Amino acid sequence: MAKVAIMGYGTVGSGVYEIIRRNSEKLRSNTYGEPVELKYILDIRDFDDHPEKELFTKEFDEILNDEEVTVVAEVMGGLHPAYEFTKSLLQKGKNVTTSNKELVATYGSELLAIARENNVNYMFEASVGGGIPIIHPMHQCLVANNITRIAGILNGTTNYILYQMIENGKSFETALADAQANGFAEKNPAADVEGFDACRKIAILASLASGKEINYNNIETKGITEITLDDVVCAGEGNGVIKLIGYADMLENGKVYATVAPMFISKGSPLAAVNDVFNAIMVTGDCVDDVMFYGKGAGKLATASAVVADILDCVRHRNSNKNIIWTKTEEPVEAGRDDVSFAYFVRSNNSVSEVNAAVKVDRFITEDDKSAFITDKMTESEAEERLSKLDIITSLKVLG
Ligand code: HSE
Repeated sequence: MAKVAIMGYGTVGSGVYEIIRRNSEKLRSNTYGEPVELKYILDIRDFDDHPEKELFTKEFDEILNDEEVTVVAEVMGGLHPAYEFTKSLLQKGKNVTTSNKELVATYGSELLAIARENNVNYMFEASVGGGIPIIHPMHQCLVANNITRIAGILNGTTNYILYQMIENGKSFETALADAQANGFAEKNPAADVEGFDACRKIAILASLASGKEINYNNIETKGITEITLDDVVCAGEGNGVIKLIGYADMLENGKVYATVAPMFISKGSPLAAVNDVFNAIMVTGDCVDDVMFYGKGAGKLATASAVVADILDCVRHRNSNKNIIWTKTEEPVEAGRDDVSFAYFVRSNNSVSEVNAAVKVDRFITEDDKSAFITDKMTESEAEERLSKLDIITSLKVLG
């Protein structure tokens, strides 16, 4: 009998409960016949009307000190006390699974090392891409590759907002309110629309790919708040779409360039067709080339399904650490913005001849007084210097 606890009974926690109850026979068959028994749900709130109210506790120590509990799902979110709780549980020899991207991105290297020292697992499949399998595939199925690039639509809320604005003419505010009502959005919507959520997720993926901790504070991050409907329409005329992209380039010199920004994507890219709350992550390996992972990136049951899968994995590998690890390096591993080159999608209040005098253009989208164009590839400093000669309305990196 595998006894488990859930910490946090919010959107994801209640989804974990629902899946454990709904699919108990299926879960048993995936743990070589061992039933998964839910013993505690930790939450500071009262749930007196809950049909299994006896499961609820407000005392973390009850879970920590119960030797029967071997796996704990931390789905409370935030850094504190999630960090302290997770650390104590791992040190006590309990496995922990989580959807908490902030915690994994901030303390992942330390918590993974503690898990390894204690021969247990810290699993975080649900922290990136909701229900999409991405952490295990990267760590296991793609392990023969050097991962060279990751480009992903990593935030369901912003993808939903952009899609609803374009397809259904909803205002930014209405689309955001819908995302909140559907349980996609973070408590503080700035985390979604300013790109911070995607920033933590790309930091996790880049750390996993490189084996070195990528500090999310060093990732240049821009959200979607400055994107207008005119930008989106113009991108469409240029045979492209605008998406919030989490991007990481693992460079040959061992450094990692990572950024989060709205980017222009050609309609020919599979990422361009990823709409609504869906996420997709394109991973490029030196042997496998491009692999794309697609699915629901947010929402109660989608995210909970990844947490429950990790619970089962912990039950099956109860006495062995799976060696998912990345480490802090002495020297900063983050590459500078001029270590990479991008083409730029630009809208400006300039004529074609003014544009041509300032920057090398690959193709024009519109050629009137408000010209729109795609530049040749260049470093960010060069782009800044050249485009400063123009009256720019919008300039976005092109995902090549
Ligand atoms: N707010 C997040 C999103 C939830 O919209 O993608 C899933 O991490």
